[in-house]
Amino acid sequence: MRLLVTGGLGFIGGNFIRRAIEDDSYSKIVNVDALRYGSDKRNLAELRKNPRYEFVRGDIADPTFVRRRVRGVDAVVNFAAESHVDRSIADPAPFVRSNIIGAYNVLEAVRENGIDMFVQVSTDEVYGPAGAGEAFDEGSRLRPSNPYAATKASAEALAMSYHNTYGTRAIVTRCSNNFGPYQFPEKLIPKTIIRALRGMKVPIYGKGDQSRSWIYVLDHVEALKRVLLKGRPGEVYNIAAWNEVTNLRLVEKVLSLMGKDKDIVEHVEDRPGHDRRYSIDASKIRRDLGWSPEHGFDEALRETVDWYLDNRSWWRPLATKSALHEAPWKPRRRR
Ligand SMILES: NC(=O)c1ccc[n+]([C@@H]2O[C@H](COP(=O)([O-])OP(=O)(O)OC[C@H]3O[C@@H](n4cnc5c(N)ncnc54)[C@H](O)[C@@H]3O)[C@@H](O)[C@H]2O)c1
Repeated sequence: MRLLVTGGLGFIGGNFIRRAIEDDSYSKIVNVDALRYGSDKRNLAELRKNPRYEFVRGDIADPTFVRRRVRGVDAVVNFAAESHVDRSIADPAPFVRSNIIGAYNVLEAVRENGIDMFVQVSTDEVYGPAGAGEAFDEGSRLRPSNPYAATKASAEALAMSYHNTYGTRAIVTRCSNNFGPYQFPEKLIPKTIIRALRGMKVPIYGKGDQSRSWIYVLDHVEALKRVLLKGRPGEVYNIAAWNEVTNLRLVEKVLSLMGKDKDIVEHVEDRPGHDRRYSIDASKIRRDLGWSPEHGFDEALRETVDWYLDNRSWWRPLATKSALHEAPWKPRRRR
C-alpha cells in the first residue's frame, strides 16, 4: 500500500510514520507537511535515507500542490491541522485555512483520483463538553465549542458528505487527548515538565478541575493502523483509553514523577469557553476492529517524563517564551 500522510512532522503524524514504516504492508510512505511552528525538521531525520519514505514540504491549503501529491497513492491519512485550542481562540484564521480548506483540498484530490481510503484524524472535542457520568458515542450530537473544535467538526462533516455524495471511501476517527514523545512544548504535559525543569511556576487554568481522558500516542497510532486496514468506509470511530483525570491532578502526577513539589503550580485566569469535561465511549472500535490500548497510564506517563528528561536537545530549541506562555489564548494584535 502506498500511503500519503499529511502533517507527518507533527506529534501524532510523526509517531504514526515511525511505526508504520516498520510494517512491510506499506510499500511507500509520503509525508506532506507545511513545517508550521509546531513541526520540526529533525523529526523523522532517521528515515531520510529510507527508500520507502519521502518527505515533501507543502501546504494542504494549496489545491494544486495537493492534487499533484495525491496522485498514485492508495490511501491518505489527514493529520495536518492547526492543533492548539488556545491559539484558535487568539486567532481562528489559520485554523479555518488548514483544518477546513486543507481538508477540503485533500478530499477533492482523493475524489478526483478515486483513492481507495481516506482517514480524517479528528478529535473528541467535536462533541463539546460531557456532563458528569456521560460518555459520547459515535452517534451523539456534535457541539464543538471552540474555534479549533469547530474547524475539526467541519472537516469531518465534509469527509462524511463526500462518502454519502460521491462514494468516497472516507473514515473519521475521534481520539481523546494524546501524550507521549515529540509533543510540542506548548501542550500541557511537555510545558509542565519543561517549566518545572527551568524552575518556573507551572500555570493551570482556573481551578484545574477540567477533566480530560488521556491516551498514549502509540495506542492512538495502533488504532489508526487498524482503522486503515479494517475500518469500514462511512464509519466514525471513537478512540480512547479511559484515563480520565483533572488537569490539576495530571500536573501533580507529572511533578511527582519529576520529584518536584506541587506548590510550584500557579492558578491563572481560565481560558474563555473552557470545556469542563470530555468523555467518549470507545467500545465500537474495540468490538468491530479488535483494537484496545496496550499501555497503562501511569507507566506511559513515566516513560513520557523520562523521554523529555533524556531528550533535552530535541525540545530546547522549541521551548521558546511563546511556546511556554502561561495564557496563549489571549488575543494577539492582528497581523
Ligand atoms: N494532540 C491531540 O491530543 C489530538 C487528539 C485528537 C486528534 N488530534 C488531531 O491529530 C492531528 C495531529 O495532531 P498533533 O497533536 O500531532 O498536531 P501537531 O500540531 O503536532 O502537528 C500538526 C502538523 O500538521 C502540519 N500542518 C499544519 N497545517 C498544515 C498545512 N496547511 N499543510 C500541511 N501541513 C500542515 C504542521 O506543520 C504539523 O507538523 C490533528 O489533526 C489534530 O486535530 C490531536
